[in-house]
Amino acid sequence: MNNKSKQELLGYQSYSIQENLTYFKPTKISTTTTFAEEIRHTLLQPKKSISPKFFYDKDGSKIFDEICSLPEYYPYNAETEILQAIEKKLIPYLSNEFHLVELGSGSSVKTRLLIDILLKSQNHLQYFPIDISEILDQSAKNLCMDYPNLSVTGVVDTFENGLDFIEHYDDKPNLITFLGSSFGNFSKNEGMLFLQKINNLMKSDDLFLIGLDLKKDQQVLHNAYNDSQKTTAKFNLNVLKRINDELDANFNIENFEHHAVYDEEKGRIEMYLRSLSEQSITISKSELSITLSKDELIHTENSHKFSISQIESSLKESNFEKLEMWFDSQKYFVLVLAKKI
Ligand SMILES: C[S@@+](CC[C@H](N)C(=O)[O-])C[C@H]1O[C@@H](n2cnc3c(N)ncnc32)[C@H](O)[C@@H]1O
Repeated sequence: MNNKSKQELLGYQSYSIQENLTYFKPTKISTTTTFAEEIRHTLLQPKKSISPKFFYDKDGSKIFDEICSLPEYYPYNAETEILQAIEKKLIPYLSNEFHLVELGSGSSVKTRLLIDILLKSQNHLQYFPIDISEILDQSAKNLCMDYPNLSVTGVVDTFENGLDFIEHYDDKPNLITFLGSSFGNFSKNEGMLFLQKINNLMKSDDLFLIGLDLKKDQQVLHNAYNDSQKTTAKFNLNVLKRINDELDANFNIENFEHHAVYDEEKGRIEMYLRSLSEQSITISKSELSITLSKDELIHTENSHKFSISQIESSLKESNFEKLEMWFDSQKYFVLVLAKKI
């Protein structure tokens, strides 16, 4: 890929931090405009919502890391347990020249386990983290400090734009990873389109590694999203603070509470912000004034939980061949390795 022309075409600015670390970001003006427009659109619907991708400003990303260390938040530990156990099983699928591409890399902590595995079968690794959060620059710097044999090319943007960015980078095979069950935030339809998008851009020798949260006891699910320290509540409410800060809005955070429930029929945790009183809100940069009634809910996230048969049929439908399924000891979580058919 001719990096420079593609980067210009897509409206990115590049930041070369050190020899082995460059990241690309869309201009600030374009991201603020998109944020303001999307918020206007989703808060004008009869059922108000805020996209979960807006959780992740710097504070939101930090609070997400706090969630990962909560005893109730099993997905993090379950996926880590799997990653710690798969070295010998994953290495036979690798050659000596894989790139690592990560969707929603966040603080890239679990990624280290994969980097360690890849660096067992090759001397140098090129890592492409893609994340909408500015946390990417610090995570990338930390990695470069700890791994002299790593080069990082980051993209601070949405999954979709990041995938367009890295498509046709070069002929080397990619291990494309999507950890943390972020896939569960998509609706069924969005999820299928996303899998197809990944499948379409994969080369025949690329691999796809996806972490998915499994259906389980409802109490375990409830506790994971309603933790006793109220960290998930802080995470959910932080999106209102972000809208206040970046879009000149006047949400009074005290007038909202976190609400997370499991819908068994839909197989998902649904997360909302509940308005505690009738109230009017103005969001200046979205040119929007809305009224919320007492107990009205703003939807902020769905987190789907999957059965093995659902996973197998979604992979098949989107043209993937399942190579491996690895589970944690409680069978709470699965890592699936797949390739393009
Ligand atoms: C649930 S966290 C997972 C973080 C990490 N991969 C893990 O497993 O712990 C989701 C990550 O994806 C990023 N993210 C969320 N929505 C995104 C989007 N639409 N495009 C790009 N990144 C997104 C967030 O900033 C966050 O770092």
